[in-house]
Amino acid sequence: MSIIFNEETKIFYLNGKNITYSFLINEDGFPEHLYFGEKIGFDDIRYTRGIGRKSFEAKPQNNKYYNDLLSPEISFFGLGDFKEPTFQVKNKTGDRLCELKYSGYEILDSKPKISNMPSLRGNETLIVHLSDEFTNFAADLYYSVYEDLNIIARRIVYKNNSDNPVFLERAFSFSQSLPSGNYDFISLFGGWGTERHIERVPLHHGISSIDSKRTSSSATLNPFIAIAENDATEISGNVYGFSLVYSSSYILKAEKYSTGEIIVTGGINDFDFTWKLESEEIFETPEIVIAYSGEGIGGMSRAFHNAYRGYLINNKFVSKPRPIVINNWEATYFDFNNDKLKKIVDCAENTGIDTFVLDDGWFGKRNNEKCSLGDWNVNTDKLEGGLKTIIDYTHSKGLKFGLWFEPEMISPDSDLFRAHPEYAISVPGRENSMARYQCVLDLTKSEVRDFIVNSVNKIIKENGIDYVKWDFNRNITESFSLGRESDRQSEFAHRYALGLYDIFERIVYENKNVFFEGCSGGGARFDPAILYYFPQIWTSDCSDAEERTIIQYGTSMVYPLSSISCHVSQIPNHQCFRTTEFKTRTNIAQLGATGYELDLSELSSDEISELKENIKDYRNNEDLILKGDLFRIDNPNTSEFFSEMVVSKDKNKAILTTYRRLLRPNAEVKRIKMQGLDKNKKYFVSELNGTFSGSTLMNVGIQLKDLFPRYDFSSFKFHIKAV
Ligand code: GLA
Repeated sequence: MSIIFNEETKIFYLNGKNITYSFLINEDGFPEHLYFGEKIGFDDIRYTRGIGRKSFEAKPQNNKYYNDLLSPEISFFGLGDFKEPTFQVKNKTGDRLCELKYSGYEILDSKPKISNMPSLRGNETLIVHLSDEFTNFAADLYYSVYEDLNIIARRIVYKNNSDNPVFLERAFSFSQSLPSGNYDFISLFGGWGTERHIERVPLHHGISSIDSKRTSSSATLNPFIAIAENDATEISGNVYGFSLVYSSSYILKAEKYSTGEIIVTGGINDFDFTWKLESEEIFETPEIVIAYSGEGIGGMSRAFHNAYRGYLINNKFVSKPRPIVINNWEATYFDFNNDKLKKIVDCAENTGIDTFVLDDGWFGKRNNEKCSLGDWNVNTDKLEGGLKTIIDYTHSKGLKFGLWFEPEMISPDSDLFRAHPEYAISVPGRENSMARYQCVLDLTKSEVRDFIVNSVNKIIKENGIDYVKWDFNRNITESFSLGRESDRQSEFAHRYALGLYDIFERIVYENKNVFFEGCSGGGARFDPAILYYFPQIWTSDCSDAEERTIIQYGTSMVYPLSSISCHVSQIPNHQCFRTTEFKTRTNIAQLGATGYELDLSELSSDEISELKENIKDYRNNEDLILKGDLFRIDNPNTSEFFSEMVVSKDKNKAILTTYRRLLRPNAEVKRIKMQGLDKNKKYFVSELNGTFSGSTLMNVGIQLKDLFPRYDFSSFKFHIKAV
């Protein structure tokens, strides 16, 4: 039993691997937070309660007003608690009051799925039932813990048990109190080609928040924040991470209250959100995964990696060797025919590359980005004999075949648009804001979803496709759904997400053996909900090694290396025109699910031999990428170096990749102290041809003096094995 309730003290204790989460049902029936951190005993910790504090501000006359001094598990507006509310419901009369009090609890052996959204698999789950006597509005707080994880998964289900419809104007997934202290607020910001750069700033009094209003989790700000003690490092200090399993407009905020306490809350963005909840209906919110680490930011990342590999990503693929693809996009863009594609496949034969992925441009009349999205039939002018010719050829060379789709889109110049203009999201009479000459399909409509499911499934099945790259290249504007009632139009962004998950369910699980990769104009929709369906996601259209050190470093804050899709690409790089050597591009691209995206016929025979050796080496160490523990050693945001180490769970095997940006004259001699090894084991480091104890490698470290070549953007990889 990981979840225990003490009937006498009314304290719940939820234990994970090394963590305890604890709260109390107080004398007034409010769930009051007590503790979240390193594992503790089942002690009476009521002495930590905020209620004991003295307030001289408008002395409370009754217990309600004290709520402002409590650490809430769920917070509500208008009844004496002035902290950021978890939800707001507008009742029939127009009042927005709701006082949720405890009405019971359940402990379930198996974790219930959210009915219409992805969530972590799992076991023991606590549900705390709360309701408002006055309106009969109710909420269930869900908490799941895992014996092998340092995370807790939370969500709230809101219920309208009244006789009238109500309007949910905010329906967040959680409120999480953290002890008062000096913290930093960490987030991942970016844009096209600069996804998931880290930003760390002091957490000030008031509200710090990140959000998306794009109906997509976005490259602008990933749905993740960490609240880290201000002296926390990669290896030390208390850090709390919050990762939302959701792909549409969201918000995450941290309020540092005047008492010093921190409240973190969020979920579906309440901007442009109102949900009409009919009598007897429920509203399910997306799951938030909250990690605790007493071992710094690195420990938080490993907690997320273990959770997402163990309980989120499709079991069938998560720890299997990944396809190593050659993708034609940067080699040909839209300009290809069977001969060009065959040449790429020929070059890939017998190299270890095992999948050829045909990117954008194979359907409709699509010779550029201006047309044909929605016309999912092969362009036989371009590909004589249809897809069959190139697929058969690819198979005859021993490679699998993958295909690009952008199923959520519609080009105004397409047969689909001519037949069904009403499928596109738009406001009647207004000109649409256009991006990349395309509009987005209204996934809130079942007939549109059926169209997508049927078209994609048909191509996959008829052609025996092995791999799908699922792209989403523009954000949603003119959020409006033709035919939906006016008081339900602000449900759009969430309904889009529900529509998206519905089509994923019907395509991904219908094609169980097909490997899916997510993509979004690079890595603009890289979130845990997408990972639930697609085991890996294209990280960024910028595949330059230098830029990728920063992007991959940030992405690994939350997402396991096996989910971070990385390709060795052309030089000069097509996004930032930098030239880096093949070895460096490979070393950086091998810190993830690796592949290639270049014209292989332009490689020298030496480079092709190097490529074969690289792939062999990758396969020999792939278990580390799939299952190992990541230790980030040098941060490319703050240093000239980028070093990451991946260590097997049994600590018998590791790789260390290190990269130096610029060669400087008379620079310090770089020493790297390894991490994550067993201090008592002996390790052979192949590149040093020497055996050292774990304690030496981690405390004295290794010296990089003569290992780097004398030029910029160079890299080196060490192989470490217990002897
Ligand atoms: C997006 C993707 C690219 C490529 C193009 C095709 O930009 O990120 O990898 O697939 O679309 O149009």
